[in-house]
Amino acid sequence: MDKKVAKLLNEQINKEMYSSYLYFQFANYYHEEGLDGFYNWYYVQAQEEMDHALLMVKYLQNNDEKVVFEAVAKPEADLKDRMDPLKAGLAHEKYITGEINAVYAAAYEAKDFRTMQFLDWFVKEQGEEEKNSSDLIKKMELFGGEAKSLYMLDSELKARVYAAPSLVL
Ligand code: FEO
Repeated sequence: MDKKVAKLLNEQINKEMYSSYLYFQFANYYHEEGLDGFYNWYYVQAQEEMDHALLMVKYLQNNDEKVVFEAVAKPEADLKDRMDPLKAGLAHEKYITGEINAVYAAAYEAKDFRTMQFLDWFVKEQGEEEKNSSDLIKKMELFGGEAKSLYMLDSELKARVYAAPSLVL
């Protein structure tokens, strides 16, 4: 495997783990706010992010590449308002999309077709996650200002169930 691509994938493992840690912070914020549905939504999201990291670990292992676990940074989001996690979440997903694209670009340059194929799933996943984050902001803008509709939105988000990733290695 191309060394630069392997290094970037190793770094991406840490970014996915940080994403998980960040979303656990968001989940905890909503727990403190008494919004169990929002808590659930981000708890599931945090689990999915850890799956992303572990898929990259497995991929490197399957290709006989060394996996390096670095320290995961403290989540830095400053959460003062119920909209703050949603906006920080969308901004973070856009950042991660850029990072995945950068790994993809390196794989493309190195003609590492196997890694490009592996990353295709992540490219699609990022599109879905940006849309989900953006939809959540729109719903909160529409319904978050009134207690009854906020309660219903919270109930909707409580229904999200964790599912193992569709990508199997
Ligand atoms: Fe795995 Fe949403 O980045």
